[in-house]
Amino acid sequence: MITPRAMKNENLTLFAPAKINLTLEVFGKRADGYHDLRSLVVPVSLYDVLTLTPLDADIEVSCEVVGLPGENLPMLPAPRDNLAVRAAHLLREVTGCCGGARIHIRKEIPIGGGMGGGSADAAAALTGLNRLWGTGLSIEALMELGARLGSDIPAMVYGKAVCMEGRGEKITPVPTCWTAGTEWWIVVVNPGFNVPTGDIYRRFRSGLTSNEETFINARFALERGDRKLACASLVNSLEAPVYDKYPLLASVAGRLKSAGADGVLLSGSGASVFAVAENHGQALVIEARMKRENGSWLWSRVAQILPDGVMVAHGPLEARV
Ligand code: C5P
Repeated sequence: MITPRAMKNENLTLFAPAKINLTLEVFGKRADGYHDLRSLVVPVSLYDVLTLTPLDADIEVSCEVVGLPGENLPMLPAPRDNLAVRAAHLLREVTGCCGGARIHIRKEIPIGGGMGGGSADAAAALTGLNRLWGTGLSIEALMELGARLGSDIPAMVYGKAVCMEGRGEKITPVPTCWTAGTEWWIVVVNPGFNVPTGDIYRRFRSGLTSNEETFINARFALERGDRKLACASLVNSLEAPVYDKYPLLASVAGRLKSAGADGVLLSGSGASVFAVAENHGQALVIEARMKRENGSWLWSRVAQILPDGVMVAHGPLEARV
């Protein structure tokens, strides 16, 4: 049995970045009920913030929702279903660690918004508690644990640009060449309701939503930082079932395009839609126009694709995780 290394007064704060899918190709249903997919995933500068405080044995969670539409509050899962809590229990189970923790989550990533909010929290909990409890698992082992909890979690534990395949558990890093100031700017909009992922996958009907060339172009664009090519290669197989069920989201995407964005895409299974802007200035202009024309019901944020989505931690244990 591993005894937690951290002292009671040590706590850890982690920034858990959201993700967007620049491509998401869904290939077909598998025997286990999941779908095979291929997706280029990048972290973006919109964060949930987790504060982990060691406790003797209990695992407690508290959440605050910051700046999200009011409808997001009731969407918070019950504490036992919270992915960060489930991650903590799983980490204890596989390592035999007997430590406890209080997990406080400051939520700024839309809930059920296709930006991996819950998965980001689970990834940060795995990474942070592994440090806090001194359980010493490798990043690969943490990714494997993450895969048991949700398809997006391995990519978010890895925390940088990746190509995700299989159910989501096969991760290949995508090397990028961004230097400070050259990262792409995006505008994210969310209507304030959540889209249940399982329901969208059930509605998915395979068809020709992408081709090999589009994927190769998108990966090349990501590697080279070629924004124009990336915008021309954005693809998401789940757009059809999502836009069918929620025409409002198709209209949001249309309005982002009319506002001048080169590339617009649904992120994951929605409900967030993002636009890739030419630069920070254009992102602000697009956001202002969306607000002016659509009113305040539409939640929006201007964010940057992160060159290195490593979660930053502040605390006595580590300066960076
Ligand atoms: O893995 P996660 O819990 O995020 O998935 C939510 C739901 O989305 C699954 O229950 C499944 O219905 C669907 N899904 C899928 N194929 C994937 C990922 C998710 O069918 N690769």
